[in-house]
Formats: sequence, structure tokens, C-alpha cells
Amino acid sequence: MNIYDIIEKKKNKKVLSEEEIYYFVNNYTSGKIKDYQASALLMAICINDLNFDETFYLTKAMVDSGDFIDLSEIKKTKVDKHSTGGVGDTTTLIIGPLLACFDLAFAKLSGRGLGHTGGTLDKLESIEGLNVQLSIDQFIKNTNDINISISGQTENIAPADKKLYALRDVTATVDSIPLIASSIMSKKLSIDSDYLLLDVKIGSGAFMKDLDHAKKLAKTMVEIGNRFGRKTLALITNMDQPLADYIGNSLEVIEAIKTLENKGPKNLKDLCLKISAKILLMAGKYEKEDQALIALEEKIENGQALNKFKEFVEKQDGNPAYVEDLSNFKLSEYKYDLICEKSGYVKKLDALLIGEAAKELGAGRESKEDGIDLGAGIILNKKIDDYVQKDGILASIYTNKKEKIQDAVSLIKKAYLIGDKNEEEYKLILGEVE
Ligand code: URA
Repeated sequence: MNIYDIIEKKKNKKVLSEEEIYYFVNNYTSGKIKDYQASALLMAICINDLNFDETFYLTKAMVDSGDFIDLSEIKKTKVDKHSTGGVGDTTTLIIGPLLACFDLAFAKLSGRGLGHTGGTLDKLESIEGLNVQLSIDQFIKNTNDINISISGQTENIAPADKKLYALRDVTATVDSIPLIASSIMSKKLSIDSDYLLLDVKIGSGAFMKDLDHAKKLAKTMVEIGNRFGRKTLALITNMDQPLADYIGNSLEVIEAIKTLENKGPKNLKDLCLKISAKILLMAGKYEKEDQALIALEEKIENGQALNKFKEFVEKQDGNPAYVEDLSNFKLSEYKYDLICEKSGYVKKLDALLIGEAAKELGAGRESKEDGIDLGAGIILNKKIDDYVQKDGILASIYTNKKEKIQDAVSLIKKAYLIGDKNEEEYKLILGEVE
């Protein structure tokens, strides 16, 4: 077997065998297959696609390239969620404590991520003292004690994906459904869990730009999960505008806490309740979605979900005063209010442009080595379908980089389209794939 023949085969639209896929993944990870050969194969895959079996074997080979995190010592039912990414997606911090109130184990290994804002770990670090680098033993113990733990991933999860994803990023081979599905699922399947809910985003701030592609991606990932024996379900949700009203690291934690206090924005709460309800159904806690939604609402109203979040913060050495008094979060030094130039309804609020503005302000990183300003970000005062008066505040920005304010303001102005009321209301949940 050799890589030349494998590239040739995919170039000619032939189906690769399990052995050929393993040969490629193992020898690329070890360095025997070179970047230029892997790039050629990735491009052939982008153009000629993989069938489901090939996609499954690619996922399996990437899982087998690294460690499997065995969490069998966690005795309760383990549930996990994953979002394909977007702007202002702070749902983990709300869904985790909610599900932990139902005696499910929310044991989540998260990443830092590159992007418009940091990953879940960066966000959590805006709480003073909070430790996101637990040993696996501590991670398991915490989950057994209080049903929730969130920590950084160990290095050796799906190393083949890490190397291939970095190559795809610089060879215009990211946007292929089998490559995205196998990449995401290889990481999820390397960590033990009983049930997995995928939140597949569509819209300007997401990888998938339309419903057909999002459905195909969701279906592929759900089938991979189920074939691996992991019960998997996907929701398809709208990322045309940022999910949260607060974009940034500290800002997103503040908004998650507000949502747990029942004072957060409706869209964010609705999505968290929907995802949590689906997980409760999958895990057999309820039979009907309505029952699950009522029970979840109760956990917010009676303060149990907020208390669980506080318990989690304390368990991981974070300062609980941050949860009790949001003024403890330190926002960046400079604040600037963006004023609306005409009255009207917000017709559009482009998530990608808002994400780019947040990154300009210091909330995200360009490369792994970059620092991040946890206090930087944007508060969106008006979202799609809201009415705004001329001279009203559209958004407020926070940054330590005074020189970046004008660039960010230009991006935010471009993101907002103000005009007549939209004929159709903004729809958040766009589909479901079992
Ligand atoms: N996220 C991943 O982990 N991989 C992809 O290919 C795309 C998004």
C-alpha cells in the first residue's frame, strides 16, 4: 500500500477501504506521509467526497490515533453536549449546572479554541482562582461528588485530527462535511459518555451557511455517534445573529449567571432549555419534552441551578463572590457606546462581523500562543426584531486597546441593518436530527 495510489484512487472518485484510511491516518500522524501528500488527498476528498463508511473509518482511525478517556468510574449517567461553534455561545455554563440538578453527570472536557472569543476554559478563568486543569482523577471525583466538572483536555486526544485540522486550515480544505464530521466526532468519541447532544449552527457566524448542508452534517455526525454505540442527537440552530447579548469572556460568564438567575436574554435561555430537555429525554428522565421543560424552568426559578453553578465554582477553587456579585468581574478599561443613527427595527445583526469586532477588541486569539483580554467584548443592546430610536445605544464595547475602538465600531456598524420590521420573526431552532 502507498499514499500515491490512495490519492490517485480518491482523485478518480473511488471508494477507499478501511485499511487504506488507517494507513493514511497512522502514517500521516507519525510523519511518514508528508504534508504535501496529505494536502492532495484532503483536496481530493473535498472535491469527490467520502461515503458514510469511509467517513466512519476516518473517524475511527483518528480516535485510535490517541488516548480514550475512560470515565467508567463515574457511576451516574454521563451526558455531553457539543456546539459546532458560533458567536456568544455560552450554553455549556448554563446547561451543565441545570443537568447536574437532575442527577446526571455533566463531565465535560473542553478546549480553549481559537476564535472570536475564547473557549469555555478561557471564559471560566475570568472567575478568580477557578482551576480548569484538573487531573482525570480529580475530574472524576468532582463529578461523582456534585454531578458536574469542566476541565481542559489532555494533550493526546485524537492527535491525528489535531495535525490534519491544522493542515486543512491552511489548504482551504476545512469546508467538507465528511472532514468536519469526522474531526468533531473523533474528539467527542475519544471521551467516554453515554449520551451526546450536538448543536449544529447555521448562519453567518457558523461553518454551515444553509439548512441543507447543516442537516447533512448533523445526520453524518449522529450516524457516526450511533454506529460507535453512543446515543447521539442533533439540533440545528440559528447563528445568523450572536446567541448571547454579551460577547466576550467575562461578559459571557456574566450573562450565563444572569440566565441562571432568570434575568438573561430569552433566546439564550430558550436554547439552553431546549438542549437540556432533549438530553433529559435521551437519558430517560422524562417521556415528554413539555414535562422536561417545566422541570428545567423550575430549577431556574427555585435557584437550584444557580446554586449548582456556585457549588461547581467553589469545587474548582473559584471565588464564589463572583457568582454572588457580578460587579466582581473586571471589564476592560475603555468603554465606548455606539449610537444609532436612525430609528427603526433591527433587521439583521451579522454574527460573523460581531465576532470579528470582539476579536479586534482583544476577546479572541489569532493563534494558540496569543494572549486574551478576558474583560474585552461587546454588549449588544439591540438584537434582531428590536426597535431602536435614533440616538439610542445599539451596543457598548469594552477594550484595553484604545487604538482598536474605531475598527471595531466600523465592523459593528456594518453588522447592524436597521429598517422596517422583518415579516418573519427570528427563528432560533431550525431542525432536529435523530
Ligand atoms: N471543528 C472541528 O473540530 N473540526 C472541524 O473540522 C470543524 C470544526
